Amino acid sequence: MRERLDRLLKEALSELGNAASKEAALQVKAKYLGRKGELSSLLKELASLTGDDKRGAGELINNAKNSLEAAVGVRLSGFDEKEMAERLSAERVDVTLPGRCVYPGKLHPVTQVLSEVEEIFLNLGFTIAEGPEVELDSYNFEALNIPKDHPARDMQDTFYVSGDVLLRTHTSPVQIRVMERAAPPLRVIAPGTVYRRDSDITHTPMFHQVEGFMVDEGVTFANLKAVLTHFLHRLFGEKTSVRFRPSFFPFTEPSAEVDIRCVICSGKGCRVCKGSGWLEILGAGMIHPNVFKSVNYDYEKFSGFAFGLGIERIAMLKFGIDDLRLFFENDLRFLRQF
Ligand code: FA5
Repeated sequence: MRERLDRLLKEALSELGNAASKEAALQVKAKYLGRKGELSSLLKELASLTGDDKRGAGELINNAKNSLEAAVGVRLSGFDEKEMAERLSAERVDVTLPGRCVYPGKLHPVTQVLSEVEEIFLNLGFTIAEGPEVELDSYNFEALNIPKDHPARDMQDTFYVSGDVLLRTHTSPVQIRVMERAAPPLRVIAPGTVYRRDSDITHTPMFHQVEGFMVDEGVTFANLKAVLTHFLHRLFGEKTSVRFRPSFFPFTEPSAEVDIRCVICSGKGCRVCKGSGWLEILGAGMIHPNVFKSVNYDYEKFSGFAFGLGIERIAMLKFGIDDLRLFFENDLRFLRQF
């Protein structure tokens, strides 16, 4: 038994030594140590022995098995180390290569301007309200003193969903929704998306407005001028001239359009201000008594002002962009500049 074992061990060690790869070494392991391997068949032969013979032979086989297992272990880890060394040299990181550029996410320019506008009004004690983008005709038009067949409806070309349901053409319906639920005093802004059948370099079918309104006893046009002038100075700089021009909106009386000195040419006249030196920024006015009637406010007691501005228009001026559609094309080369 001892001789057979010695021979077997010698053979196994020599085959292991000759194994040229990890696979070959594993085959040697299976051949001698596997369940059907040479050492296992010797173990089976123990059944025919008895007493001390059996014990002695068992011990010899186990010793041979242990030495072979140790040798296989050493051989296999040798292959693993070699493989690792090869991989390390093949996959070496070249630290001198230029890094891959990671672009951090940024806020869209329209979102940036929107946040800035919100911030200014929040600092003045205004709160933020929201309303639905799919709106009822009664909120978008009728409660705002624009009855059916009123010519003012032509001012805002509307996307209709069905008879009385439409995509809101402005944020003014939020005035109605807020006043229906709450009593004065109110100081509210309502930013949001609005929709119109419009498309050219200064008009897109979807854009953003911020509505603002203040209602209380004794609110006057002077308050409107003060708040809007302060707002425009914060947004465009203290030295920016602001002017109020008479205008018309069905839901305000009197109404005004508010212009600032052209931020591109400082009033000399250019392509952006069409030579006038002024840029129209927002619409505003004193809330019409009919609007107060539609929300059951006492228009003898309360007065208020309201205004509405287009965020993209302001973003165009702040960033010197001459085509509004660029904001919605999602071209990363454009967006990364802000
Ligand atoms: C209104 O929408 C009124 N609701 C504003 C208002 C509110 C007046 C409260 C009085 C009191 P207007 O249609 O002018 O007004 O639109 C306001 C602003 O939205 C415009 O000055 C312009 O900046 C922007 N705007 C209008 N149409 C578009 C468009 N198609 N694309 C981008 N911006 C637009």
